[in-house]
Amino acid sequence: MSASTPLPRTEDVGSRSGIPLDRREEWARLSEHRDRFGATHLRGLFADDPARADRYTLGVGGLHVDYSKNLVTDETLRLLAELADATGVATLRDAMLRGDHINLTEDRAVLHTALRAPRSAVIRENGHDVVPEVHRVLERMAAFAERVRARTWLGHTGKPVTRVVNIGIGGSDLGPAMAYEALRPHTDRGLEFRFVSNVDGTDLHEALVDADPGRTLFVVASKTFTTIETVTNAEAARDWLLSGLGEEAGSDAIAKHFVAVSTNADEVAKFGIDTANMFEFWDWVGGRYSYDSAIGLSLMVALGPERFREMLAGFHLMDTHFATAPAERNLPFLLGLLGVWYGGFFDAQSHAVLPYSHYMSKFTAYLQQLDMESNGKSVQRDGRPVNWQTGPVVWGTPGTNGQHAYFQLLHQGTRFVPADLIGFARPAPDLPEGLVPQHDLLMANLFAQGQALAFGRTSAEVAAEGVPADLVPHRTFPGNRPTTTILAGQLDPSVLGQLVALYEHKVFVQGAVWNINSFDQWGVQLGKVLAKRVEPALTEGTEVPDLDPSTAALVRHYRDLRGR
Ligand code: F6P
Repeated sequence: MSASTPLPRTEDVGSRSGIPLDRREEWARLSEHRDRFGATHLRGLFADDPARADRYTLGVGGLHVDYSKNLVTDETLRLLAELADATGVATLRDAMLRGDHINLTEDRAVLHTALRAPRSAVIRENGHDVVPEVHRVLERMAAFAERVRARTWLGHTGKPVTRVVNIGIGGSDLGPAMAYEALRPHTDRGLEFRFVSNVDGTDLHEALVDADPGRTLFVVASKTFTTIETVTNAEAARDWLLSGLGEEAGSDAIAKHFVAVSTNADEVAKFGIDTANMFEFWDWVGGRYSYDSAIGLSLMVALGPERFREMLAGFHLMDTHFATAPAERNLPFLLGLLGVWYGGFFDAQSHAVLPYSHYMSKFTAYLQQLDMESNGKSVQRDGRPVNWQTGPVVWGTPGTNGQHAYFQLLHQGTRFVPADLIGFARPAPDLPEGLVPQHDLLMANLFAQGQALAFGRTSAEVAAEGVPADLVPHRTFPGNRPTTTILAGQLDPSVLGQLVALYEHKVFVQGAVWNINSFDQWGVQLGKVLAKRVEPALTEGTEVPDLDPSTAALVRHYRDLRGR
């Protein structure tokens, strides 16, 4: 396609016939099926089909996914696949993968899959093959990472850098921070990493309180390089550096202690970072889909280029599966459609992601942006309002901690909360011998929770245990609470890449069925604009026109408390 050829527009893909989702016959058939499904219990589904666990398990790459504890039958899955077909999910997927501008409101391609494509791939954006650029930047990142890891990247005073501080927020923070945590055993433990995101100055303070300016390197990560939190923190970091090294250190110190990751070379240069120390990415990479771009620079320093590439290969493996597997054996399709089923027909408001791995402590927070910023929308791709539930609230923390906090509600509360349980068969490679036995206990809890949530404990079973009659209702577990179990051999870079790509594509499938644009984020703008207007009122007491009475009173009270 030449640069002048009009780009294919895909606004009609998701609503090919213009029929809203809830008026489609496939939706009506699911609704009737839901009525018939009624209170069908997982106990019955398993009793009726001894092969259910085998039939509803799929292995892809290093992931073994058991979705048998979901409230579905063959008929449900067939009807959901028909819905995916009618709403053009595969057509939109293909449009995304070939670089069409499916992000309509920003007129952009959505090509995070190009970030992990092999060198031999050809992926065109506006007629231009982006794969060579992706690999050129990866090579620059690798050269830089190797220098820091070899301790040959020297600071202004000639000392090697030993602390890397990533400054970024949202997609420019959550991905690298999550993956760094997840892959800790695979990192260079002689280097220290900090991830600063919050405009609350305490975040930066804690990252620097025990740091030596001569050994500290800042990676300022911002797609736009205009995000107020990141720019404010980067300026404060620059002040900290220069006050530590002496103002006269000036631009030489900035060049040796600051690198940038951005799409915006002009703003990077204005900040004072040498654009030779800038690692670029492109506007066809959404912030929340960017950690396998140069946004992962800090992570690459931690892991080393080889491990980083293993992670990219893991992503690519899942991309290939998503692109080629038939819908009924396609993991992102399956997991996405299960969410459509629960949101549309069980009134599920939220989805819990519960990794049984302490290293995965930031995984759900990462998924919150991925899922909620992508699918927290209430208009269709053409601007008409939706009349159905879209993205759920995504939440969760690592097991077993959550079991002693909110699992009570999951087991016996009135809310319907589908959950993903994620675990790894082998413990971390460098776990001391003495701690290895704890891994079986951890995983026993994962399996037990899936079992308890699905099958519960009937009042008859409870009574048969000799529980006094008045306590029986309190100690009964209704069960029938759906979970999907994702089990992998070990949490390594490849498996993490596969997992993240799985969730990326799951979110895509849901957005396509719901006919929303999963790739813009206008909903975060208003708060940013208002904060800019309110700040002078806090600092200088200036009048903010049209401030509502509640906010105006809060501003006055804040100023009183600050003695202003
Ligand atoms: O919060 C909105 C948002 O634009 C996210 O989508 C993005 O990941 C984050 O801000 C950070 O943006 P940037 O990388 O441009 O600083």
